[in-house]
Amino acid sequence: MPFIIEALASRHDRKGFSCGVPPLDRYLKEQAGQDIKRRAALCYIAHEPESDRIAGYYTLSAGDVALQDIPDDVARRLPRYPVVPVARVGRLAIDTEFQGKRLGAAMLWDAAQKAMRAELGVFALAVDAKDEQAAAFYRHSGFIALQPNSLRLFLPLQTIASLR
Ligand SMILES: CC(C)(COP(=O)(O)OP(=O)(O)OC[C@H]1O[C@@H](n2cnc3c(N)ncnc32)[C@H](O)[C@@H]1OP(=O)(O)O)[C@@H](O)C(=O)NCCC(=O)NCCS
Repeated sequence: MPFIIEALASRHDRKGFSCGVPPLDRYLKEQAGQDIKRRAALCYIAHEPESDRIAGYYTLSAGDVALQDIPDDVARRLPRYPVVPVARVGRLAIDTEFQGKRLGAAMLWDAAQKAMRAELGVFALAVDAKDEQAAAFYRHSGFIALQPNSLRLFLPLQTIASLR
């Protein structure tokens, strides 16, 4: 199913959005606009071409990860700075009606493309999964846990670049 992914705007219908996790629904309806205004996070949404109803969204902001938290085999190839810059997907949610249609994967791919195009140094896409089920989705999508069983995961952008 084709989707358009673009920045959240007032014309998008967020009222009916329901992903099964009330805090993520509330964030889209009550908080996302404020975060955008304050430049704390940007929010990108997906909708079908003929509808403004939001099928999914994610937020993206700048962040960092301590080098000492990164697994040795990856850290070895990084400069010895105390922290490395990342693009953080703070929230990702797909409306229940659209789950299982590869939209979540498409949103992650879109976030990675945006991070790669960013005109500043970004080493990886990073996420804080809300629970083990979400972490399993991210691992399935190629993300690596910072520590074994950690809900903090990252995906080096070099990995994405090598897939293009
Ligand atoms: C988790 C979520 C974002 C996944 O989005 P989705 O559009 O339903 O997932 P997709 O259809 O894109 O799945 C892509 C792949 O991941 C797999 N996958 C989906 N959820 C998974 C899970 N929990 N564990 C492991 N794999 C998973 C799919 O089987 C699919 O595999 P394939 O590429 O081999 O076919 C979505 O279900 C959701 O919004 N859930 C509620 C909110 C939430 O948990 N958000 C997580 C942010 S912390």
